[in-house]
Amino acid sequence: MKLSSALLAIVASLSYAKKDGQALSPPMGWMSWQRYVCETDCETYPDSCISENLYMKATDLLVSEGYLDAGYSQVSIDDCWSTQERDDNGDQQANPDRFPSGLKALGDYMHNAGVKFGFYSDIGTHTCGGYLGMKGNFQRDIDKFVSWGIDYLKLDGCYEDIAEMHDDYTEVSKILDASGRDIVFSCSWPAYVNNHGEDNDGEILQTLSEICHTWRNFDDVADSWNSVSSIIDYWARNTTDIPFVQVSGPGSWNDADMLMVGNNGLSLSEERTQFALYAIFASPLFLSTDLTKVSPESKAILQNREIISVNQDQSQQGIVLSDISNDPDWWVNVRTFGRALSDGTYAVVLQNYGNMGPYVNIKFDVSLLSQIGASVTTESQYTMRNLYTGKDVEGTFTGDEFVVPVESSSVEMFIVTLA
Ligand code: GLA
Repeated sequence: MKLSSALLAIVASLSYAKKDGQALSPPMGWMSWQRYVCETDCETYPDSCISENLYMKATDLLVSEGYLDAGYSQVSIDDCWSTQERDDNGDQQANPDRFPSGLKALGDYMHNAGVKFGFYSDIGTHTCGGYLGMKGNFQRDIDKFVSWGIDYLKLDGCYEDIAEMHDDYTEVSKILDASGRDIVFSCSWPAYVNNHGEDNDGEILQTLSEICHTWRNFDDVADSWNSVSSIIDYWARNTTDIPFVQVSGPGSWNDADMLMVGNNGLSLSEERTQFALYAIFASPLFLSTDLTKVSPESKAILQNREIISVNQDQSQQGIVLSDISNDPDWWVNVRTFGRALSDGTYAVVLQNYGNMGPYVNIKFDVSLLSQIGASVTTESQYTMRNLYTGKDVEGTFTGDEFVVPVESSSVEMFIVTLA
């Protein structure tokens, strides 16, 4: 994709995020939305309704199941926590039946466990689930949320005029800056804009990178390969040089939406694919699963320290380096993704996105890394470390010598070190 000179000038002049030292790596945690949506019937669904119990249990499990140690440091409330009307003072309050101890107590519970308190509201008149939004009450609501001790605010974009998003998100960002509390700001924009910003609207881009630490680009994730692969395709379509990639980096991350690893809709191969590629995309990593039901295999994916460390690298997100749909071998559909890491190595994911036939032998061509700044030729030598086996591959390779079989709907992930 070629950029206009005006857009290139905008990208060149970007000041990179709020520069407040927050979200230097993509945020990580657990978020209720995809797995628990907006179930409010606690009588019928006591273990899975949106209530303080759900978030307290998630906090406990994050700690006891090793996720906090692996880097998942926050529990995030999503939609449907509030009452339907403001109180007599005009403030938002949590639903008293489902949050009888109140949100300050819930935040304290998380903080005492060493977990950050992630929060949710909407910039429009209502949330997507029809609960209270912040429109017209930005200062009042932020004051209230700060008094509850929130550390992260996902501010959704339902029931908001798109033409007002620029000014409204900017205003909230300023109020957060002046709040006296460190709060990571997650904007749901351009997710609501036509074409999800794929036409690279320069104004949106410049604003986002100045006022939000992270922002949702694309559709809501669902627990299916169809949904997860559509998100991957969004980034694979938007190849080299796109401004959204160029503004990613410390304090400024594109959010590909929650991880589905640990749920029911993806095979293990598909789970590996989502996790590996979210590391390349430098996306926030939010689990949205019942932490009591994660299989040992899925847990091993979620707690793979080497892949997490690629995700958390304080560098620009990676891109697709090649995408081959081989006619007449129509069953061959393979991509190479790469991300330049700050220690001078490269994370590479070889994806077989075909869904017919057995494995495909994917060749890795080291010269592709020139697209992400490596000084390489077809003769360059390199070694490979496989991040899913946790082992170095034996030998040193030259050019496109390295070949690995990759199953359909699956990936292999490596760290490439230039010799
Ligand atoms: C939107 C967001 C989701 C979730 C729901 C809540 O769809 O994109 O992540 O927060 O609203 O209603």
